[in-house]
Amino acid sequence: MASVSLRHIKKVYENKVEAVHDFCLEIRDKEFVVFVGPSGCGKSTTLRMVAGLEDISGGELYIGDRLVNDVEPKDRDIAMVFQNYALYPHISVYENMAFSLRLRKMPNAEVHRRVCEAAEILGITEYLGRKPKQLSGGQRQRVAIGRAIVREPQVFLMDEPLSNLDAKLRNQMRAEIILLRQKLDTTFIYVTHDQTEAMTLGDRIVIMRDGFIEQVGTPMEVFEMPTNIFVAEFIGAPKMNILKTRLVKENGRYYVTPFGTRIPVDGERAQALEKKGVGTKDILLGVRPEHIVLSAPGEHAIPCTLEVNEMMGSELHLHVKTADETRLIVRVPTINLEGDDRTNMNFGKPLNLTFESKVMHFFDPDSQKNLLV
Ligand SMILES: Nc1ncnc2c1ncn2[C@@H]1O[C@H](COP(=O)(O)OP(=O)(O)OP(=O)(O)O)[C@@H](O)[C@H]1O
Ligand SMILES: [Mg+2]
Repeated sequence: MASVSLRHIKKVYENKVEAVHDFCLEIRDKEFVVFVGPSGCGKSTTLRMVAGLEDISGGELYIGDRLVNDVEPKDRDIAMVFQNYALYPHISVYENMAFSLRLRKMPNAEVHRRVCEAAEILGITEYLGRKPKQLSGGQRQRVAIGRAIVREPQVFLMDEPLSNLDAKLRNQMRAEIILLRQKLDTTFIYVTHDQTEAMTLGDRIVIMRDGFIEQVGTPMEVFEMPTNIFVAEFIGAPKMNILKTRLVKENGRYYVTPFGTRIPVDGERAQALEKKGVGTKDILLGVRPEHIVLSAPGEHAIPCTLEVNEMMGSELHLHVKTADETRLIVRVPTINLEGDDRTNMNFGKPLNLTFESKVMHFFDPDSQKNLLV
């Protein structure tokens, strides 16, 4: 168990690519932190610097209270699980898991205890005698995790450990990692480009773009108060709708006016705008697909037409188009409270949409920053 402290960490590769700029983060002992972001944003590079697999070009890295910039990977007391398992094909599952312990000349009885205990935690005891190729992808990934567990490291590093698995297995393994975390109770740094994994696994999420940290927060914080449009669109699926509109302040009250409507902003959101001293201005308005509701026509409703009705089971994803060709996505229950089945709504059907002010997000059109942060 240990904290991990990244202080102004920087990575410049030999070819002058600056992959990570001034990365600052304090990871608490036993915390589960997820690095998430699009391909190439520097997640693996950062993780590999923590592991000691890449040199650190600038800044300081502490594991516990030890400065480890120049400490060999094997002496950092970490264990890493990769996307491609990297198991030795010619030896058994048992020996794969025992390998690093034997290198350390650990006594046989202790090796046996650790391998059996890890196999038990992961439910792979019955496969210990098999070779890796006699296992399914999910079982192999469990062995790869087992190989990390037996080392009883202070910090677990995982780089997209589930991305080689099919969707169903990935969901199952995700739940198993949550369980594993409860059993091991140690510090985790987990890399993924999948926002669902980040949201479900992380105590805190670090959202990265182009080598920079865009936001650090709990899943709820980044979902409810994204610092900018990039984070707002990255977290949540389908992604947040962004509408060009005007925020109007009139007689101490706020309205948004998308497509000629006049939708009041009340409660907390209005108070927050007031507190920030925001006046009438052009904005980008963010509304998540699940926060838009179908409504009756009127001053508060945006008229639009249905283009695509995606049936997802218990909910529908409605792709709609407004009069000025803006496209929005709306998530609604397949069967509404009145018991009407909406699966038969078809292309071209006129609809009216509205949303409540407590779920609106306001962004500056130039800086793309959240006006309330
Ligand atoms: N060995 C290397 N030499 C030079 N540039 C590299 C090297 N490894 C990575 N890069 C570059 O550094 C940047 C960050 O790469 P990194 O692998 O950390 O991204 P990532 O966030 O893990 O992406 P992905 O989701 O695709 O795995 C990219 O621009 C990449 O091209
Ligand atoms: Mg990567």
